[in-house]
Amino acid sequence: MTESSNNQRPVALVTGASAGLGSVFARTLAKQGYDLILVARRAERLEALAAELAELGAAGEVCPADLTKDADLARVEEKIRNCDRLTMLVNNAGFGLDKLFHESDLAGQSAMARLHVLAPTHLTHAALPGMVSRGSGAVINVSSVAAWLQGAGGVMYCATKAFLNSFTLSLAVELDGLGVRVQALCPGFTYTEFHDVLGMDRKLVPKFWWLDAQYVVDQSLRDLKRGKVISIPSARYKLLAGVFRAMPQWLMNRMGKKRHEELQRQREKKA
Ligand SMILES: NC(=O)c1ccc[n+]([C@@H]2O[C@H](COP(=O)([O-])OP(=O)(O)OC[C@H]3O[C@@H](n4cnc5c(N)ncnc54)[C@H](OP(=O)(O)O)[C@@H]3O)[C@@H](O)[C@H]2O)c1
Repeated sequence: MTESSNNQRPVALVTGASAGLGSVFARTLAKQGYDLILVARRAERLEALAAELAELGAAGEVCPADLTKDADLARVEEKIRNCDRLTMLVNNAGFGLDKLFHESDLAGQSAMARLHVLAPTHLTHAALPGMVSRGSGAVINVSSVAAWLQGAGGVMYCATKAFLNSFTLSLAVELDGLGVRVQALCPGFTYTEFHDVLGMDRKLVPKFWWLDAQYVVDQSLRDLKRGKVISIPSARYKLLAGVFRAMPQWLMNRMGKKRHEELQRQREKKA
Protein backbone atom coordinates (compact mmCIF):
# COMPACT_ATOMS: atom_id res chain seq x y z
CA MET A 1 0.00 0.00 0.00
CA THR A 2 0.99 3.65 -0.43
CA GLU A 3 2.74 5.66 2.31
CA SER A 4 -0.41 7.68 2.93
CA SER A 5 -2.38 4.64 4.03
CA ASN A 6 -3.26 4.32 7.69
CA ASN A 7 -1.59 1.05 8.62
CA GLN A 8 -4.29 0.08 11.12
CA ARG A 9 -6.90 -0.20 8.38
CA PRO A 10 -7.72 -3.59 6.85
CA VAL A 11 -7.00 -3.97 3.13
CA ALA A 12 -9.28 -5.43 0.47
CA LEU A 13 -8.05 -6.42 -2.99
CA VAL A 14 -10.77 -6.28 -5.64
CA THR A 15 -10.28 -7.60 -9.17
CA GLY A 16 -12.32 -6.06 -11.95
CA ALA A 17 -12.51 -2.81 -9.95
CA SER A 18 -12.64 -0.56 -13.02
CA ALA A 19 -16.37 -1.10 -13.60
CA GLY A 20 -19.61 -2.67 -12.43
CA LEU A 21 -19.75 -4.84 -9.32
CA GLY A 22 -16.00 -4.49 -8.66
CA SER A 23 -16.15 -0.68 -8.45
CA VAL A 24 -19.22 -0.92 -6.18
CA PHE A 25 -17.41 -3.43 -3.92
CA ALA A 26 -14.45 -1.01 -3.73
CA ARG A 27 -16.59 2.03 -2.81
CA THR A 28 -18.65 0.06 -0.29
CA LEU A 29 -15.60 -1.46 1.42
CA ALA A 30 -13.89 1.96 1.53
CA LYS A 31 -16.95 3.32 3.37
CA GLN A 32 -16.65 0.39 5.79
CA GLY A 33 -13.07 1.37 6.67
CA TYR A 34 -10.96 -0.65 4.22
CA ASP A 35 -8.02 0.51 2.15
CA LEU A 36 -8.18 -0.93 -1.34
CA ILE A 37 -5.92 -2.54 -3.91
CA LEU A 38 -7.65 -2.04 -7.24
CA VAL A 39 -6.96 -4.52 -10.05
CA ALA A 40 -8.14 -4.40 -13.69
CA ARG A 41 -6.65 -3.63 -17.13
CA ARG A 42 -7.85 0.00 -17.50
CA ALA A 43 -5.41 1.98 -15.33
CA GLU A 44 -7.07 5.35 -15.94
CA ARG A 45 -10.39 4.05 -14.57
CA LEU A 46 -8.61 2.69 -11.50
CA GLU A 47 -6.83 6.05 -10.97
CA ALA A 48 -10.18 7.86 -11.07
CA LEU A 49 -11.66 5.40 -8.57
CA ALA A 50 -8.64 5.74 -6.26
CA ALA A 51 -9.15 9.53 -6.26
CA GLU A 52 -12.81 9.00 -5.33
CA LEU A 53 -11.82 6.62 -2.52
CA ALA A 54 -9.33 9.15 -1.16
CA GLU A 55 -12.27 11.51 -0.62
CA LEU A 56 -13.83 8.78 1.52
CA GLY A 57 -10.62 8.62 3.57
CA ALA A 58 -9.45 5.34 2.06
CA ALA A 59 -6.13 4.66 0.33
CA GLY A 60 -6.58 3.09 -3.09
CA GLU A 61 -3.55 1.46 -4.65
CA VAL A 62 -3.87 1.10 -8.40
CA CYS A 63 -2.63 -2.20 -9.76
CA PRO A 64 -3.20 -2.45 -13.53
CA ALA A 65 -3.10 -6.09 -14.62
CA ASP A 66 -4.51 -8.38 -17.26
CA LEU A 67 -5.30 -11.43 -15.13
CA THR A 68 -5.31 -13.74 -18.16
CA LYS A 69 -1.54 -13.11 -18.49
CA ASP A 70 0.83 -15.21 -16.37
CA ALA A 71 3.26 -12.37 -15.55
CA ASP A 72 0.49 -9.97 -14.50
CA LEU A 73 -1.21 -12.63 -12.39
CA ALA A 74 2.11 -13.47 -10.68
CA ARG A 75 2.61 -9.75 -9.90
CA VAL A 76 -0.80 -9.54 -8.19
CA GLU A 77 -0.11 -12.78 -6.28
CA GLU A 78 3.14 -11.28 -5.02
CA LYS A 79 1.32 -8.13 -3.91
CA ILE A 80 -1.11 -10.28 -1.92
CA ARG A 81 1.67 -12.29 -0.25
CA ASN A 82 3.42 -9.07 0.78
CA CYS A 83 0.34 -7.41 2.26
CA ASP A 84 -0.02 -8.36 5.91
CA ARG A 85 -3.16 -6.26 6.28
CA LEU A 86 -5.02 -8.15 3.55
CA THR A 87 -8.38 -9.01 5.09
CA MET A 88 -10.60 -9.35 2.04
CA LEU A 89 -10.07 -10.68 -1.48
CA VAL A 90 -12.84 -10.20 -4.03
CA ASN A 91 -12.29 -12.33 -7.14
CA ASN A 92 -14.74 -10.45 -9.32
CA ALA A 93 -13.18 -9.82 -12.77
CA GLY A 94 -15.12 -11.57 -15.49
CA PHE A 95 -16.86 -11.35 -18.84
CA GLY A 96 -19.44 -13.22 -20.88
CA LEU A 97 -19.42 -14.84 -24.30
CA ASP A 98 -22.47 -15.82 -26.30
CA LYS A 99 -21.21 -17.98 -29.14
CA LEU A 100 -21.45 -21.67 -29.78
CA PHE A 101 -18.31 -23.25 -28.38
CA HIS A 102 -17.28 -25.00 -31.62
CA GLU A 103 -17.81 -21.83 -33.68
CA SER A 104 -15.99 -19.52 -31.30
CA ASP A 105 -12.43 -18.32 -31.16
CA LEU A 106 -10.51 -20.60 -28.74
CA ALA A 107 -8.53 -17.60 -27.43
CA GLY A 108 -11.70 -16.07 -25.93
CA GLN A 109 -12.75 -19.35 -24.31
CA SER A 110 -9.27 -19.86 -22.96
CA ALA A 111 -9.11 -16.29 -21.60
CA MET A 112 -12.40 -16.90 -19.79
CA ALA A 113 -11.06 -20.09 -18.20
CA ARG A 114 -7.95 -18.19 -17.10
CA LEU A 115 -9.89 -15.24 -15.69
CA HIS A 116 -12.72 -17.15 -13.99
CA VAL A 117 -10.79 -20.25 -12.85
CA LEU A 118 -7.01 -19.81 -12.86
CA ALA A 119 -6.87 -16.23 -11.53
CA PRO A 120 -9.20 -16.85 -8.52
CA THR A 121 -7.30 -20.09 -7.80
CA HIS A 122 -3.90 -18.35 -7.79
CA LEU A 123 -5.04 -15.25 -5.89
CA THR A 124 -6.92 -17.28 -3.27
CA HIS A 125 -3.89 -19.54 -2.84
CA ALA A 126 -1.71 -16.46 -2.33
CA ALA A 127 -4.14 -14.90 0.17
CA LEU A 128 -5.14 -17.82 2.40
CA PRO A 129 -1.88 -18.64 4.23
CA GLY A 130 -1.65 -15.09 5.62
CA MET A 131 -5.35 -14.96 6.47
CA VAL A 132 -5.22 -18.34 8.19
CA SER A 133 -2.12 -17.42 10.18
CA ARG A 134 -3.79 -14.16 11.28
CA GLY A 135 -7.02 -16.07 12.03
CA SER A 136 -9.20 -13.67 10.05
CA GLY A 137 -10.14 -12.76 6.53
CA ALA A 138 -12.60 -13.39 3.73
CA VAL A 139 -12.59 -14.38 0.07
CA ILE A 140 -15.57 -13.57 -2.14
CA ASN A 141 -15.66 -15.33 -5.50
CA VAL A 142 -18.11 -13.63 -7.83
CA SER A 143 -19.93 -16.46 -9.53
CA SER A 144 -23.44 -16.35 -11.05
CA VAL A 145 -26.81 -18.09 -11.05
CA ALA A 146 -25.48 -19.45 -14.35
CA ALA A 147 -23.48 -21.87 -12.16
CA TRP A 148 -26.64 -24.00 -12.09
CA LEU A 149 -27.39 -23.63 -15.80
CA GLN A 150 -26.29 -25.53 -18.84
CA GLY A 151 -27.09 -24.24 -22.26
CA ALA A 152 -26.01 -23.36 -25.78
CA GLY A 153 -23.92 -20.21 -26.14
CA GLY A 154 -22.67 -20.14 -22.56
CA VAL A 155 -20.71 -23.38 -22.30
CA MET A 156 -17.53 -21.95 -20.73
CA TYR A 157 -19.38 -19.31 -18.69
CA CYS A 158 -21.64 -21.89 -17.01
CA ALA A 159 -18.74 -24.31 -16.52
CA THR A 160 -16.39 -21.73 -14.98
CA LYS A 161 -19.09 -20.39 -12.64
CA ALA A 162 -19.95 -23.97 -11.57
CA PHE A 163 -16.24 -24.41 -10.81
CA LEU A 164 -16.29 -21.28 -8.61
CA ASN A 165 -19.24 -22.59 -6.59
CA SER A 166 -17.68 -26.01 -6.08
CA PHE A 167 -14.25 -24.50 -5.30
CA THR A 168 -15.78 -22.18 -2.71
CA LEU A 169 -17.96 -24.82 -1.06
CA SER A 170 -14.99 -27.16 -0.61
CA LEU A 171 -12.76 -24.35 0.66
CA ALA A 172 -15.41 -23.51 3.25
CA VAL A 173 -15.09 -27.06 4.59
CA GLU A 174 -11.27 -26.82 4.76
CA LEU A 175 -11.37 -23.39 6.42
CA ASP A 176 -14.04 -24.20 8.99
CA GLY A 177 -12.91 -23.03 12.42
CA LEU A 178 -9.85 -21.13 11.13
CA GLY A 179 -11.45 -17.66 11.18
CA VAL A 180 -11.49 -17.23 7.39
CA ARG A 181 -14.77 -17.00 5.48
CA VAL A 182 -15.40 -17.76 1.84
CA GLN A 183 -18.38 -16.99 -0.32
CA ALA A 184 -19.55 -17.63 -3.86
CA LEU A 185 -21.72 -14.68 -4.82
CA CYS A 186 -24.31 -15.77 -7.40
CA PRO A 187 -26.14 -12.80 -8.87
CA GLY A 188 -28.64 -12.87 -11.69
CA PHE A 189 -28.91 -10.12 -14.32
CA THR A 190 -27.35 -6.99 -12.81
CA TYR A 191 -26.99 -3.49 -14.26
CA THR A 192 -23.24 -3.14 -14.98
CA GLU A 193 -21.15 -2.90 -18.16
CA PHE A 194 -21.19 -6.70 -18.49
CA HIS A 195 -23.92 -6.78 -21.17
CA ASP A 196 -22.31 -3.92 -23.17
CA VAL A 197 -19.07 -5.94 -23.31
CA LEU A 198 -21.09 -9.03 -24.27
CA GLY A 199 -23.01 -7.08 -26.92
CA MET A 200 -26.40 -8.04 -25.47
CA ASP A 201 -29.42 -5.79 -25.60
CA ARG A 202 -30.72 -5.47 -22.03
CA LYS A 203 -34.26 -5.07 -23.36
CA LEU A 204 -34.22 -8.78 -24.26
CA VAL A 205 -34.63 -9.51 -20.55
CA PRO A 206 -37.75 -8.23 -18.71
CA LYS A 207 -37.09 -5.46 -16.15
CA PHE A 208 -38.34 -7.72 -13.36
CA TRP A 209 -35.14 -9.79 -13.60
CA TRP A 210 -32.64 -6.90 -13.29
CA LEU A 211 -30.80 -6.18 -10.05
CA ASP A 212 -29.02 -3.05 -8.90
CA ALA A 213 -25.25 -3.50 -8.43
CA GLN A 214 -25.24 -1.80 -5.01
CA TYR A 215 -28.03 -4.11 -3.84
CA VAL A 216 -26.02 -7.18 -4.97
CA VAL A 217 -22.89 -6.02 -3.12
CA ASP A 218 -24.84 -5.15 0.05
CA GLN A 219 -26.48 -8.58 0.05
CA SER A 220 -23.12 -10.28 -0.47
CA LEU A 221 -21.47 -8.46 2.44
CA ARG A 222 -24.51 -9.06 4.66
CA ASP A 223 -24.45 -12.78 3.79
CA LEU A 224 -20.70 -12.90 4.46
CA LYS A 225 -21.28 -11.58 7.99
CA ARG A 226 -23.89 -14.28 8.49
CA GLY A 227 -21.46 -16.95 7.27
CA LYS A 228 -23.46 -17.86 4.15
CA VAL A 229 -21.17 -19.64 1.68
CA ILE A 230 -23.54 -19.33 -1.29
CA SER A 231 -25.05 -15.87 -1.60
CA ILE A 232 -27.93 -15.40 -4.04
CA PRO A 233 -29.22 -11.82 -3.92
CA SER A 234 -33.03 -11.41 -4.07
CA ALA A 235 -35.91 -13.78 -3.35
CA ARG A 236 -36.72 -14.19 -7.05
CA TYR A 237 -33.23 -15.47 -7.87
CA LYS A 238 -33.13 -17.70 -4.77
CA LEU A 239 -36.34 -19.28 -6.05
CA LEU A 240 -35.01 -19.52 -9.61
CA ALA A 241 -31.77 -21.17 -8.44
CA GLY A 242 -33.88 -23.70 -6.52
CA VAL A 243 -35.89 -24.41 -9.68
CA PHE A 244 -32.68 -24.84 -11.72
CA ARG A 245 -31.30 -27.29 -9.14
CA ALA A 246 -34.49 -29.35 -9.12
CA MET A 247 -34.98 -29.35 -12.90
CA PRO A 248 -34.53 -32.62 -14.82
CA GLN A 249 -31.57 -32.45 -17.23
CA TRP A 250 -33.73 -32.94 -20.35
CA LEU A 251 -35.76 -29.84 -19.45
CA MET A 252 -32.62 -27.83 -18.67
CA ASN A 253 -31.20 -28.82 -22.10
CA ARG A 254 -34.39 -27.88 -23.91
CA MET A 255 -34.58 -24.54 -22.10
CA GLY A 256 -30.88 -23.81 -22.76
CA LYS A 257 -31.26 -24.46 -26.47
CA LYS A 258 -34.47 -22.43 -26.77
CA ARG A 259 -32.93 -19.47 -24.93
CA HIS A 260 -29.98 -19.36 -27.32
CA GLU A 261 -32.21 -19.71 -30.41
CA GLU A 262 -34.46 -16.90 -29.18
CA LEU A 263 -31.48 -14.60 -28.55
CA GLN A 264 -30.13 -15.38 -32.04
CA ARG A 265 -33.54 -14.68 -33.64
CA GLN A 266 -33.90 -11.37 -31.86
CA ARG A 267 -30.35 -10.35 -32.81
CA GLU A 268 -30.94 -11.22 -36.47
CA LYS A 269 -34.21 -9.23 -36.42
CA LYS A 270 -32.34 -6.21 -35.04
CA ALA A 271 -29.41 -6.49 -37.49
N1 LIG B 1 -23.77 -8.16 -14.57
C1 LIG B 1 -24.38 -9.32 -14.47
O1 LIG B 1 -25.56 -9.50 -14.90
C2 LIG B 1 -23.70 -10.48 -13.78
C3 LIG B 1 -24.48 -11.57 -13.38
C4 LIG B 1 -23.87 -12.64 -12.75
C5 LIG B 1 -22.51 -12.61 -12.51
N2 LIG B 1 -21.76 -11.54 -12.92
C6 LIG B 1 -20.31 -11.59 -12.67
O2 LIG B 1 -19.92 -10.41 -11.99
C7 LIG B 1 -18.53 -10.18 -12.21
C8 LIG B 1 -18.32 -8.70 -12.49
O3 LIG B 1 -18.93 -8.38 -13.72
P1 LIG B 1 -19.74 -7.02 -13.94
O4 LIG B 1 -21.15 -7.40 -14.14
O5 LIG B 1 -19.38 -6.03 -12.92
O6 LIG B 1 -19.17 -6.63 -15.39
P2 LIG B 1 -18.35 -5.34 -15.89
O7 LIG B 1 -19.07 -4.10 -15.49
O8 LIG B 1 -18.15 -5.58 -17.35
O9 LIG B 1 -16.97 -5.43 -15.12
C9 LIG B 1 -16.04 -6.46 -15.39
C10 LIG B 1 -14.71 -6.12 -14.75
O10 LIG B 1 -13.79 -7.18 -15.03
C11 LIG B 1 -12.57 -6.60 -15.47
N3 LIG B 1 -11.84 -7.51 -16.37
C12 LIG B 1 -12.28 -8.08 -17.51
N4 LIG B 1 -11.30 -8.78 -18.10
C13 LIG B 1 -10.20 -8.66 -17.29
C14 LIG B 1 -8.87 -9.15 -17.36
N5 LIG B 1 -8.45 -9.89 -18.40
N6 LIG B 1 -8.00 -8.84 -16.37
C15 LIG B 1 -8.41 -8.05 -15.33
N7 LIG B 1 -9.66 -7.55 -15.21
C16 LIG B 1 -10.54 -7.85 -16.18
C17 LIG B 1 -13.00 -5.33 -16.20
O11 LIG B 1 -11.95 -4.37 -16.21
P3 LIG B 1 -10.97 -4.01 -17.44
O12 LIG B 1 -11.79 -4.10 -18.70
O13 LIG B 1 -10.52 -2.63 -17.11
O14 LIG B 1 -9.88 -5.02 -17.35
C18 LIG B 1 -14.12 -4.84 -15.29
O15 LIG B 1 -13.58 -4.09 -14.24
C19 LIG B 1 -18.13 -11.13 -13.33
O16 LIG B 1 -17.39 -12.21 -12.80
C20 LIG B 1 -19.45 -11.60 -13.91
O17 LIG B 1 -19.35 -12.91 -14.46
C21 LIG B 1 -22.32 -10.48 -13.55
